[in-house]
Amino acid sequence: MEKTIFSLCLTCMLSMGAVMAQVANYDVVPLPQTVNLSAKPGFVLNESVSIMYPEGNADMQRNARFLSDYVKEMTQLVLGSQPLPAKAKLAKVGQGNVVLTLDASIQNEEGYTISVTDKNVTISGKTPAGVFLGIQTMRKSLPVLNEKPQAVTLPAVSIADEPRYAYRGMMLDCARHFFTVDFVKEYIDLLALHGMNRFHWHLTEDQGWRFEVKKYPKLTQIGAWRSGTTVGKNSGVDDGVLHGGFYTQDECREIVKYAADRYVTVIPEIDMPGHMLGALASYPELGCTGGPYEVSHLWGIFPDVLCMGKENTFKFIEDVLDELVAIFPSEYIHIGGDECPRTRWAECPLCQQRIKDEGLVAQEGKSKEDLLQGYFTRRIEKYLHEKGKKLIGWDELLNCNVDQSSTIMSWRGAEPGAKAAKLGHDVIMSPNKPMYFDHYQTDNLAHEPLAIGGLETVKDVYAFEPVAKELSADDARHILGVQANLWTEYVAYPHHAEYMVLPRMAALAEVQWLQPDSKDYDAFMVRLKRLKEIYDLHQWTVAQHVFK
Ligand code: ACM
Ligand code: ZN
Repeated sequence: MEKTIFSLCLTCMLSMGAVMAQVANYDVVPLPQTVNLSAKPGFVLNESVSIMYPEGNADMQRNARFLSDYVKEMTQLVLGSQPLPAKAKLAKVGQGNVVLTLDASIQNEEGYTISVTDKNVTISGKTPAGVFLGIQTMRKSLPVLNEKPQAVTLPAVSIADEPRYAYRGMMLDCARHFFTVDFVKEYIDLLALHGMNRFHWHLTEDQGWRFEVKKYPKLTQIGAWRSGTTVGKNSGVDDGVLHGGFYTQDECREIVKYAADRYVTVIPEIDMPGHMLGALASYPELGCTGGPYEVSHLWGIFPDVLCMGKENTFKFIEDVLDELVAIFPSEYIHIGGDECPRTRWAECPLCQQRIKDEGLVAQEGKSKEDLLQGYFTRRIEKYLHEKGKKLIGWDELLNCNVDQSSTIMSWRGAEPGAKAAKLGHDVIMSPNKPMYFDHYQTDNLAHEPLAIGGLETVKDVYAFEPVAKELSADDARHILGVQANLWTEYVAYPHHAEYMVLPRMAALAEVQWLQPDSKDYDAFMVRLKRLKEIYDLHQWTVAQHVFK
């Protein structure tokens, strides 16, 4: 009875601007595939509502907790949660409540449905991950209220959604600049808010090694620290300030768990055989010349890389991977493979001996040193396979004769991704145009913080189509998903990192979720303005260009 009165009141509330905000709105980012609004009375969400989850299901119980936290954060309403016994009659017990359920009839692993009637709200997923994604949609539908209302009305609706891509990622470079565990968690929160499920964690670089390896303590005693950083773009002026830090294995486990609770998989990257000065400064015997080496103060690509001729190099990498895979349950391990100069290998007797021993001979556009990286990568991939893991590498691997089983991350444009798919590799599309969020986001640089260059507007990100026209349907199946990358040469602080990813992440989310014919930039901009209220609620630093 009380509910009917509230529903009737909805009409008068709608005519009163001030209270209008107490009604949910399903115009969210990413837009669900189907949103069928009904003229019937909606659901009245007030503090007598409980969130119910299947008894004995810890994942669903955690989902219920997330939903009640989000409802509180958005509306101030405090909702309890309770288990729904398996034998309980849902129609009876669920009456007046929000019910989280698993529904095996949903096809997609991350698919979900939301049903809102005047009787109850049901959020169903094939898996708890799907339910969590439905919860994110519900969360973003709620109004941001500074004062606790009597109730929030959820208009009656039937929503069904599933993501276009299974791999929906963002990368954070914690090696050029170190970011705290708290900020890494915040970044994972951003992924969850945007319906993303892969956190690619770039952990090693010329400028710092960030992953604790018990067998090689110098990696974090020496390799994690640089005694200064160039000012600006290799200006010749060094700030002389010690910069560094690393993640202990316990902290890595903590982050893996934090992400897993939010259905985000952490994919760690140990970049090899180039971008290795952090390791070489710690263990110079791993390089061709034997050093000495220094953790770099400068940005760029450096000639000193791992020596491919020494068996110790392989032992080192295998030992590091042993400790890595014991912590990161991800099926994929990223081994980098980008920007590895051949200078030292061309001069190193041990590397040249390896080339001879392996019978590597230059061929169509591939030098023998290119093939040496291929030899290295295939050997590392075999090792990862023995550990039950798959390999991802940057698209330079396409020039090294690596096996078709390696997954290629296309970054030097979208063309390498298309080429890789045609060759039968699985592919993640992360082309620098427009998915490098370290690039500028406006052409008016007067008030912009220094960036590496480029120009990738929100609109550019939104317009990106991951499947090249020339790909057949079979080839297109190799495109596993899309990712944007935040490299941090010029991004040293959390608020700056936020500024670079917000709101471009929102545009990426629609690329990852929506079918191409559902995309509409102007309609997205309306949805984005609502999402920004959540950014503001969290006091994240948001680039304002598209909101002006
Ligand atoms: C890269 O940007 N070097 C992968
Ligand atoms: Zn060598």
